[in-house]
Amino acid sequence: MKALNHNDAPLYAELLRYAVRKEASFHVPGHKDGNFYRDIEGKVPYGFAEVLSIDATEIEGTDDLHDPEGVIREAQEKAAAFFRAEETFFLVGGSTVGNLALILTVCSEPGDILIVQRNVHKSVLNGLMLACARAVFVSPEHESLNGLAVLPNEASLEQALERYPEAKGVLLTRPNYYGMGRSIRETSELCHRYGVPLLVDEAHGAHYGLHSAFPASALAEGADGVVQSTHKMLGAMTMGAMLHVQGKRIDRELLRKRLAMVQSSSPSYPIMASLDLARSIAEQSGADGWKDALEAAAHIRRELEKLPRFSYVRPSRSDQDNSRTISSNRDGRYTEQDPFKISIEDVEGRLSGYEIQRRIADAGCVAEMSDERRTVLALGPGTWMDDAVRLIEALREMQAEADVHMADSASEQHVSERSSVHRNATASLDQKMFSAISEPVPFDLRPPTASDTVNTEASAGRVAAEMIVPYPPGIPLVYAGEEITESTVAHLIRLREAGARFQGASDASLHTIRVRTSYPAEKR
Ligand SMILES: Cc1ncc(COP(=O)(O)O)c(C=O)c1O
Repeated sequence: MKALNHNDAPLYAELLRYAVRKEASFHVPGHKDGNFYRDIEGKVPYGFAEVLSIDATEIEGTDDLHDPEGVIREAQEKAAAFFRAEETFFLVGGSTVGNLALILTVCSEPGDILIVQRNVHKSVLNGLMLACARAVFVSPEHESLNGLAVLPNEASLEQALERYPEAKGVLLTRPNYYGMGRSIRETSELCHRYGVPLLVDEAHGAHYGLHSAFPASALAEGADGVVQSTHKMLGAMTMGAMLHVQGKRIDRELLRKRLAMVQSSSPSYPIMASLDLARSIAEQSGADGWKDALEAAAHIRRELEKLPRFSYVRPSRSDQDNSRTISSNRDGRYTEQDPFKISIEDVEGRLSGYEIQRRIADAGCVAEMSDERRTVLALGPGTWMDDAVRLIEALREMQAEADVHMADSASEQHVSERSSVHRNATASLDQKMFSAISEPVPFDLRPPTASDTVNTEASAGRVAAEMIVPYPPGIPLVYAGEEITESTVAHLIRLREAGARFQGASDASLHTIRVRTSYPAEKR
């Protein structure tokens, strides 16, 4: 990598100057520029005091995140220019606080409606609770090959916008945890036709748009407010994230106030400096900065092709070829895959995703997460070819074992049983989604009210007192506070009979459901 100019990262440069000055600190934080740790420095492996020497606070020269006029302002402006936002806000509490602040801004009055993709991160649900908002959930389409949820289609979103013209905005997640997605250009145009902002939780797509190998960023596709976990897919410290905005559909003054509510009044300078530096390095390195990691990703995919035991999640060739012409109403559009997410599956179903994760961990390769079928690997700008080689070595060993097992008929029986549970449960997803658009589901901070247990078959018309998440596919089909409809019950029973398990439900077999005692459904 070419030598980097640290002065391009104004906040980071100021903190280096601060550390070199070694002034006597009579201000917070209490560790006094790391002095507290210096006498144990020889005994700890990582030079903790060094890190803390830039753990500054708001003093002359270091600016103030909540009212930036100096180096933080400059660093945020540079980030906005680089990510092509009109304005960028540094976040020190991850995408979590970005989602909270966006929802609290767009749903400024209790009872406001937000159209929300049904499968969202819990920070979105917490944002809805804090805002006392009502969510109209729109179900995502399931990509047919792997049964994974991608995004709601435009037809469903348009129906929701038609039905709820008072909605304050639409919130989507793209890409999903598996790095899957599609263009949201049409979706942002749709939202704008209805006069509402499109908010995108792009926690897993901080690198989008920075290289031709990555999909376009949500901002480039017209989203109004975008949250990115810079710490996940770029080089920032854990909790370092950014919120980008453009256009006039989001009230920026209110957003600033909401950010000041949900972010600490003592934001971490190392985290903020790492945001500055992550942007600066990505900007200065250009396409070169991605070369090693992209080669490592390509190597893993190439080698996986040679291992018949494994497959990995990718768009079907026809979807990719047609990515520009596929109509919005087509189900399960999945045309974009993040090259840095590789989701590996044992095609024979012998090893679950969790087992694959354990096996590669034994070889010193730690995966991002697993589900029942797949292990998800997250690569990033710090991934090297050595890492890829180590992983492939571990997978090759597992391939060799599979070749031996092939002769074992007893285990074949086991394999086919396990695979059929997956197939059945996934197959039931191919059926028309039960009801793509929910009634408005009220969220608030009141503790749960009294509840009863009823037979699932008798639960239609009651208000759920618990969240029900069938796995597969791992998408909440019912939220606490949501009215259970006839079609929901039918869908839940179909999934139950197909072998799905139900996370979050008090009865994991879902013969019963907990519902609120108040009846009929309370509406705000
Ligand atoms: C889709 C999505 N949104 C938001 C978040 C929260 O991000 P953070 O950990 O940066 O707060 C996550 C975390 O995993 C996520 O997966």
